[in-house]
Amino acid sequence: MVAETTLTPNDFILPLFVREGIDAPVPIESLPGVSQHTLPSLSGEVAKAIDLGVPAVILFGIPTTKDAEGSESWNPDGIVQVALRDLRDRFGDEIVLMADLCVDEYTSHGHCGIVNDRGEVDNDATLELYQRAAVAQVTAGADVVAPSGMMDGQVAAIRSSLDSAGFPEQAILAYAAKYASSMYGPFRDAVDVTIADGGDRKGYQQDYRNAREALAEVHLDLDEGADMVMVKPALPYLDILRQVRDTVDVPVAAYHVSGEYAMLKAAAANGWLDGDAATIEVLTSIKRAGADMILTYLAIEASELLAG
Ligand code: PBG
Repeated sequence: MVAETTLTPNDFILPLFVREGIDAPVPIESLPGVSQHTLPSLSGEVAKAIDLGVPAVILFGIPTTKDAEGSESWNPDGIVQVALRDLRDRFGDEIVLMADLCVDEYTSHGHCGIVNDRGEVDNDATLELYQRAAVAQVTAGADVVAPSGMMDGQVAAIRSSLDSAGFPEQAILAYAAKYASSMYGPFRDAVDVTIADGGDRKGYQQDYRNAREALAEVHLDLDEGADMVMVKPALPYLDILRQVRDTVDVPVAAYHVSGEYAMLKAAAANGWLDGDAATIEVLTSIKRAGADMILTYLAIEASELLAG
């Protein structure tokens, strides 16, 4: 009667991986229970999400070929675009289709943009790639694009390209406060990304020692036209999530990322934690801290648990 926070399947966004050129789903070892999907197995997962009342999915693609610019991310026949068209045809408006918008899954060097002669990511040259990918994703059926590359000016660039391509209604969920985190390890296995030359993303993602900087990033993204903002990862950054929720009026998402999922699963598999109880507690905590939406690989099983 007096519980302040109630978790429901309506709080979740399910991240899904779709891989080009495979005939059967490929399990991801460091994300037990999560697979790289074929088109048919992908639509099976989406059907499950719809049945359980999960309102949205977000797609990540694994292409068969990668190049320096990540051109498969805007190829109309690239794997995510093909998957978006297929899901839109099958499910109509029954579920919100989101697409992660970045090039790291598609670049040979694993960076989120164009790399210059000095081995640094060229922020401004990268914006044009994101514009192409945004238009390709929305043309294929995405309702929401979610730029995750942390380039300065990416939201404004994407907004203007979508508007001029005739998509003023399609929304942008900005990965606004995205930290350079050790928690993305299993995700990089999931999308076959190794950053070249032992590199990292500290040049464009945020320093975990900083909180005010996250709020500055959120405000910049909102000024550029973001419709929703995200804090990522979730559990180590609940303080950031609370501050963002208290300072903005748009919907706020939190991403319970691959490493957070893997820790929970590993402890549960060893019998060190009650996995079901931890699942509901962790997700409820993220909601309590201020998330309106939670991106989580636990979306299906948590919805099943909530259904009893
Ligand atoms: C970048 C992207 C990443 C994640 C989502 N989008 C990886 C990164 O920034 O290295 C991580 C998600 C997770 O760990 O679950 N395209």
